[in-house]
Amino acid sequence: METPHIQIQGYAASIQIRSHAKINWTLDVLFKRDDGYHELRTIYQTVSLHDTLAITETDGPIEIICDDPRVPCDETNLAFKAAALLREAAGTSKGARIEIEKRIPVAAGLGGGSSNAAATLLALAKLWQVEIDEPALVRIAASLGSDVPFFLMGGTALGVGRGEEVHPIEQVDSEHLLLVNPGFSVSTRDAYEKLSRLTRSEAANNIPFTFLAAKGISGLPLVTRNDLEEVVLTAHPEIAEVKSRLLSLGARHAQMSGSGATVFGVFDNSQMIERAESEVRAAGCWAQRVRTVDAREYKATIFQ
Ligand code: C5P
Repeated sequence: METPHIQIQGYAASIQIRSHAKINWTLDVLFKRDDGYHELRTIYQTVSLHDTLAITETDGPIEIICDDPRVPCDETNLAFKAAALLREAAGTSKGARIEIEKRIPVAAGLGGGSSNAAATLLALAKLWQVEIDEPALVRIAASLGSDVPFFLMGGTALGVGRGEEVHPIEQVDSEHLLLVNPGFSVSTRDAYEKLSRLTRSEAANNIPFTFLAAKGISGLPLVTRNDLEEVVLTAHPEIAEVKSRLLSLGARHAQMSGSGATVFGVFDNSQMIERAESEVRAAGCWAQRVRTVDAREYKATIFQ
């Protein structure tokens, strides 16, 4: 990770860090495990949409300030939990004020809360000068949520286990992605609970689909899928409508991200995506054009 620019304001050191959103190019659910989680094969991708965290070292408690009233600013906030766990691991009594400027829709399948938690770990490890090795940081990240470890590396990565074990793969470059959110949130836990028809169990030891998909992504058209779509789309037909709308507006592929409700559309050029963006906004949806952010760019630019 590049050396972040630590600013000294008066006596307080502070860091600004970008906290990117992700999409899932694929999400294969293999089976329910004994620990209650589902065994996954997914391909994560960071995109250019990001929250911004301004973190200042203090002598006091851990404080969260957020400009979005839907985000809890108490100890249930994942960034708060991340800071508390890191403080415990480091054995420090230092505090932090974490200001979150929110742009990523909340509970939207875009990993916003998980990304905020990973960004907090990366920033506070620098700010508090915590000597922690990478495996220990990954363990803390995994204890916060299944997709938090992914946000320590970003880019295009294969996620296995419950999604917490991540491996970088061939980086995908896609310029014209449209994120569309119909304006309601979906609970990840509910989506998994509703998942009645699981992917074929033989896929557990033989994961050709995800790897085929990984190879196929850079040579669009895509051959990807999201196993959570069926149950979530049944409960929320509006998401299926967003998918068809994007396809009718010229997207070569449209798919739900994570447990939804955000759908991403892959477009071929800026004219088509601009038209699609204004049409879905006119229909009352939140829409945002983004591009992929690969692991190299992620590492080089998250500290602002
Ligand atoms: O790991 P995270 O806290 O993000 O997961 C939220 C919920 O989603 C879990 O409590 C679990 O119910 C469900 N989940 C799952 N299998 C996964 C990831 C999440 O069942 N691989």
